[in-house]
Amino acid sequence: MLYLLSTLTLAAAASASFVGNLNYRSPSLHHPELGVSLRKVHKRNNAASGFSPSQLNFTHGVASGDPYPDSIILWTRIAPTSDNDRSNITVSGAVPMYNHDTEEYVSVSTAPICVNYKVASDKALSSVVSTGTAWTSSDIDYTVKVEADKLAPFTTYYYQFNVCNSNNTSPIGRAKTTPAADDTVSSIGLAVYSCSNFPYGYFNAYGNPVRKDSVDYVVHLGDYIYESKGSYGAPIGRLPLPDKEIYSLYDYRKRIATYRTDLDLLASAASFSWISVWDDHEVADNTWRDSSSRLNNTEQSFVMDGGVSVEQRKMNAVRAYFEWMPIRQVEMDDNLRIWRNFSIGSLLDLIMLDTRQYDRSITDLYWNTDYVHQISNDAGRTLMGSRQENWFYNQLSASAARKAAWRVIGNQIVFSRMNESVAYGNENPLDYDAWDGYQASRNRTLQHLYTQNISNTVFLSGDSHMSWVSDLVWLDEHPYDPVTGAGSIGVEFAGTAVTSPCPYGQNIALDKANNASRALVQANRELQWQDVYYRGYFELHISYSNISASFFGMPNITHRNPLEIPLASFSVQSGENRLSRPVAGGSVESGALKYGQTVQTNVTVDTSAARSGNNSRLAL
Ligand SMILES: *[C@@H]1O[C@H](CO)[C@@H](O)[C@H](O)[C@H]1NC(C)=O
Ligand SMILES: *[C@@H]1O[C@H](CO)[C@@H](O)[C@H](O)[C@H]1NC(C)=O
Ligand SMILES: *[C@@H]1O[C@H](CO)[C@@H](O)[C@H](O)[C@H]1NC(C)=O
Ligand SMILES: *[C@@H]1O[C@H](CO)[C@@H](O)[C@H](O)[C@H]1NC(C)=O
Ligand SMILES: *[C@@H]1O[C@H](CO)[C@@H](O)[C@H](O)[C@H]1NC(C)=O
Ligand SMILES: *[C@@H]1O[C@H](CO)[C@@H](O)[C@H](O)[C@H]1NC(C)=O
Ligand SMILES: *[C@@H]1O[C@H](CO)[C@@H](O)[C@H](O)[C@H]1NC(C)=O
Ligand SMILES: *[C@@H]1O[C@H](CO)[C@@H](O)[C@H](O)[C@H]1NC(C)=O
Ligand SMILES: *[C@@H]1O[C@H](CO)[C@@H](O)[C@H](O)[C@H]1NC(C)=O
Ligand SMILES: *[C@@H]1O[C@H](CO)[C@@H](O)[C@H](O)[C@H]1NC(C)=O
Ligand SMILES: *[C@@H]1O[C@H](CO)[C@@H](O)[C@H](O)[C@H]1NC(C)=O
Ligand SMILES: *[C@@H]1O[C@H](CO)[C@@H](O)[C@H](O)[C@H]1NC(C)=O
Repeated sequence: MLYLLSTLTLAAAASASFVGNLNYRSPSLHHPELGVSLRKVHKRNNAASGFSPSQLNFTHGVASGDPYPDSIILWTRIAPTSDNDRSNITVSGAVPMYNHDTEEYVSVSTAPICVNYKVASDKALSSVVSTGTAWTSSDIDYTVKVEADKLAPFTTYYYQFNVCNSNNTSPIGRAKTTPAADDTVSSIGLAVYSCSNFPYGYFNAYGNPVRKDSVDYVVHLGDYIYESKGSYGAPIGRLPLPDKEIYSLYDYRKRIATYRTDLDLLASAASFSWISVWDDHEVADNTWRDSSSRLNNTEQSFVMDGGVSVEQRKMNAVRAYFEWMPIRQVEMDDNLRIWRNFSIGSLLDLIMLDTRQYDRSITDLYWNTDYVHQISNDAGRTLMGSRQENWFYNQLSASAARKAAWRVIGNQIVFSRMNESVAYGNENPLDYDAWDGYQASRNRTLQHLYTQNISNTVFLSGDSHMSWVSDLVWLDEHPYDPVTGAGSIGVEFAGTAVTSPCPYGQNIALDKANNASRALVQANRELQWQDVYYRGYFELHISYSNISASFFGMPNITHRNPLEIPLASFSVQSGENRLSRPVAGGSVESGALKYGQTVQTNVTVDTSAARSGNNSRLAL
């Protein structure tokens, strides 16, 4: 509402380019405080107090995301300082300054900055297909987020921002639209990530697909940042500023900005269009509808946490996320929705869920594990809220009805039932913060797949800091043969962390880790491969006839390097709804394979030499 009124009062010419920066909008109609009054920003638009182009820098590179067939989100930041805007520093006790001219609380109440952007079909930016102008200011931490339109489907573009009327330009980025829903496309490659924890290591996993130029898009399943104090930064000298647990808007901005100094993160963002969702740590550990693990408010949502109410903390986290990520607001409903879908040709529908922040029933908060264990099979529990759940099932049906070859679900937490008594003991052997704590939601999903005869469903998962590859089965309900895979209704590929530590011991030895993997594979009938040891990522290559999934481990994340170890490769044939046998060709590099060998070959690939090279990538 705020946003709509503001635009009406602006002069037409100015309004278009102010509105062009999506970050002035609130991501939700019901949270107008997350939006910024354009009228107030526009009032400060006076050349005398403005910045000269030479005072400004593109401080954090460029990014693109949420590709559609005809448009894409482009992102950058242009600022007089690499530091973040300090309005709303509620935790430190500093009171934001009230500026009587602009009628708002800001510490650096600056004149807005104008940028142009252009999108071209060539790297030299000579064949320009789309241009635009947008404004930014301290109110939104000098971030710029625009939707470039009039683009052609499944096309690679190059883009650049510049400060208006100047030669002060951003780095050049590369972006790719998706195929139109009815188009045939021979194959699509996705690099899939989760759990990138800055103080624990370098984000080499982000850079390797850039160096190989091996995928079309990046999918991030969340835990893109961590909110905790960076006390583990010392060993490798990566302190995630600010050096404390984060609460305020400034804190969340600063944390995301600090992560965005990793050179491989910058390279991935500039080279691939990202499709991302948050997990819990973008806000706080083990979040649920009303709270998180650090709090004991099981009944009420407005308790104070580090000097900020829970609700305000979430707003701060959400606002910074929307400012800094190239993500679209698909529908401005009340609950800060980021669940959304992408039809990628007739090949697949990518369904991105929010199993974390959106209307989730109470989770494992560590002190209540026994209780959550007891209620984990209650029919009334919900992982996503009924609105999202219904949308999810309708998406699966609509995708099958339009005969898309595959349904790929981008989800935060491990879907399959995983008995982890090897780590947790026999009393509460499941991870109740994952789908195992919300068995009714899982049953309803499986029920929907079975009753609607929906085929070719692939779950992608993150969050666990380990790799798990399973046939998708409804244990105890439908017969399943782990040898042949008969009875399975799809597959799950759950990936390890980019850098977040192994839950079975940060510096666990390989043989001990492989022992744990063996115990896990033995304890779970549908679990075909498990790896505890490696940090890394996986790539999915999707064609009409099959999907291949290749998992990569990082040999050393204590410094920036282009090396990786191919760990295991899987394939799924269309219509078979299970992993192809022999699973992983009968042999893996690490972890444990249910029917096959672990052969440690020590083959390490230098991705800077391994590039498959169609020459379209950017210089690094
Ligand atoms: C902008 O970047 C230049 C070159 O890196 C640097 O010298 C200058 O201090 C930066 N200015 C600001 C305001 O950050
Ligand atoms: C910023 O701080 C002001 C003053 O304390 C407050 O009125 C406003 O709601 C805050 N906004 C956000 C987004 O935190
Ligand atoms: C940008 O650079 C070109 C070539 O050096 C120059 O001709 C032009 O005047 C510059 N434009 C601005 C706005 O400074
Ligand atoms: C929450 O309550 C439990 C049980 O009363 C207690 O063990 C735990 O320490 C409390 N946690 C916090 C953060 O207060
Ligand atoms: C999302 O799915 C709906 C069908 O349920 C479809 O109409 C829509 O085009 C899809 N959105 C995108 C961006 O592909
Ligand atoms: C879910 O399905 C399992 C069988 O796998 C069953 O034991 C359990 O009772 C079901 N729970 C609910 C809430 O439907
Ligand atoms: C699913 O398949 C079964 C057996 O082939 C059939 O009886 C049933 O009608 C189908 N259901 C739907 C919704 O297509
Ligand atoms: C791994 O398991 C084997 C066989 O159970 C055992 O002999 C070995 O000591 C274990 N290694 C470690 C490091 O736990
Ligand atoms: C979990 O696995 C252990 C070891 O295989 C077994 O003893 C236990 O019964 C299992 N628990 C459940 C709930 O399946
Ligand atoms: C998977 O599909 C691709 C593209 O059609 C094909 O080249 C490849 O041989 C297939 N792989 C398997 C294992 O079927
Ligand atoms: C990782 O690299 C560091 C140098 O940055 C080196 O000191 C360390 O030994 C390496 N670790 C392994 C396991 O090779
Ligand atoms: C791989 O390295 C390990 C540990 O250094 C060693 O035990 C093993 O023999 C090596 N494998 C091969 C095939 O060289």
